[in-house]
Amino acid sequence: MLKSYFNAKKEKVLKQDIFLMRKKRGKEYLMCGIVGYAGSKSISNDVLIDGLKALEYRGYDSAGAAVLQQNGFLCVKTKGKVSRLEEKLRQKKIASSTLGIAHTRWATHGVPDEHNAHPHHQGKVTLVHNGIIENYHELKKELQKEGYVFASETDSEVACAYLDFLYRKTQDKLEAMAQAIRSFRGSFAFGILFDDDQEHIYAMRRNSPLIAAVGEEGNFIASDVPAILKYSRRYILMGQDEMAVISKDCIHMYDKDKQEITYEIKTADMDIMDIQKGGYEHFMLKEIHEEPKVVMDTIRAYLKDDIHSLQETLPDLSAYEEIHIVACGSAMYAGMIAKSLIESKARIRVDVEVASEYRYKDPIFSQHTLVLLISQSGETADTLAALQLAKEQGIDTFAIVNVVGSSIAREAKYVAYTLAGPEIAVATTKAYCTQVALLSMIAFHLTHIHGYVSIERIREILREIDQLEETLEGMMKDRQYVEAGKMISRYGNVFFIGRGLDYALSMEGSLKLKEISYIHSEAYAAGELKHGTISLIEKGTPVIALATDEQLYEKTISNIKEVKARGANVILICREDFQVDRDFYDYRISVPKVDVFLQTIVTVIPLQLLSYQIANLRGCEIDQPRNLAKSVTVE
Ligand code: AGP
Repeated sequence: MLKSYFNAKKEKVLKQDIFLMRKKRGKEYLMCGIVGYAGSKSISNDVLIDGLKALEYRGYDSAGAAVLQQNGFLCVKTKGKVSRLEEKLRQKKIASSTLGIAHTRWATHGVPDEHNAHPHHQGKVTLVHNGIIENYHELKKELQKEGYVFASETDSEVACAYLDFLYRKTQDKLEAMAQAIRSFRGSFAFGILFDDDQEHIYAMRRNSPLIAAVGEEGNFIASDVPAILKYSRRYILMGQDEMAVISKDCIHMYDKDKQEITYEIKTADMDIMDIQKGGYEHFMLKEIHEEPKVVMDTIRAYLKDDIHSLQETLPDLSAYEEIHIVACGSAMYAGMIAKSLIESKARIRVDVEVASEYRYKDPIFSQHTLVLLISQSGETADTLAALQLAKEQGIDTFAIVNVVGSSIAREAKYVAYTLAGPEIAVATTKAYCTQVALLSMIAFHLTHIHGYVSIERIREILREIDQLEETLEGMMKDRQYVEAGKMISRYGNVFFIGRGLDYALSMEGSLKLKEISYIHSEAYAAGELKHGTISLIEKGTPVIALATDEQLYEKTISNIKEVKARGANVILICREDFQVDRDFYDYRISVPKVDVFLQTIVTVIPLQLLSYQIANLRGCEIDQPRNLAKSVTVE
């Protein structure tokens, strides 16, 4: 009961959050894929499948297509990959034809499964959609009074029915679309088919991207140029509230008042991979640059204008007296950040455990234990096993996951999603940042409900959160790390040292360097060096020292002096307001001073960019490092 209630609440809240975020930020972040073909040759299935595959980089969890057959349009949908859709088209003997639309869905709310997958069909209308119709609740009520019945929970199916309703009323496709544009609030890119028109694809958009394209043997619509590059490089960017009517021979474009408009045909001069990476050389760099937006999207999905909103958008955590954080790799290192913040600020005991150890160690629980699992993919086998172990012992579980409807998300008692969007590079960057951001909000919330933060301090933190996106954007342009990176790229062993939060962060910094540049490195508690490891320091050894905590940085400086005295090349990453004698470091990377709840989100950026640069200098395969998989779904 509680889970369904909470999830229903969460669903609602998350939906509202998405609306709020979109209203507040007006930025398109939904990543569904749309492809459509109207042509002279019966090649629809190849065009649609090729197109969806070219859009796979956008991330998705279900797919579908509607293809013209002898007696009308036939819809085929599937949960999972485009290859499964391809198989289903074959199994059902859906012949290729001259007209069809297709879609890949990245669920941000509503589980990813067939009945929520697109295309949707209502009456005489079949459509695929990318975006959010914010007023779909009221439209749905209106349509239900008109006798419409819905098979899914999606806003897209409501949009489909509403278009059908308007078409029945006006008997004019373009008029129905124009009235829909006036009625829909929110964002949309639609590919539309009408049962009584086997010649044309109809399209319209607002805020979500949509292009039309001109080919030799037909014309196309698509969410993005990569989808049609195999068939055409000549595309048309559809403008806000514009409509298109596309046949095999021509493309007509109209404004929202049905006035025909001229358009410019552009030529794509990049190859598919370039466009998928948004012009960046690697997905990893593209994803680092998405961090300012996705970190704020994640924070704003839970923290609205005041701290009490966290009470609404997070599970009730007030009764837990100890938290076991269980995860793997970078997710576990995000958990180390949470441990440091929650223990120091909210005074709640936190143990962070590697999932592959936790699942076999017969953990000690109490009835006040919460097991918090962190996972980008939501499919990591060891983390899932740890979750199941806790559930078998009747322990409450709370999952922080990036992939909606993933196994860990489904099995946990509570779930909170990060809004990093699909992360393609195997080495996590933006997902890790959104995990830290959400964990920091949880720490902030716990500190508040346990009475360890004053009203004035709360106001201070909220003000800093308002500034965070701008601060992060500024970090993206910062090049202080470049010279240090050139030096480090020539070495085979690197040390990271730090204290407190800086020690926790150095673990992720070390892993990022190792996994993409193949340089061996270790993260060490700065005070621990003299207990053995300092014997490894020799002339030139790069030591990356993190010092952002004003209570601890003098101590860290002492440790830096120790390694400097033994010939180390010290790269000091410290707060810009710290005065440090120039003799104590060889390179300095200064980071902005922000609230302690936000400091690691800022400081991790030069660590990510440094590792990226070093790996590039060493000619490594950055997006797909050797031996690694994006999700370790086996033990
Ligand atoms: C990839 O950069 C990470 N280093 C990797 O350790 C990842 O964090 C780990 O495999 C856990 O994956 P998950 O977050 O999908 O559970």
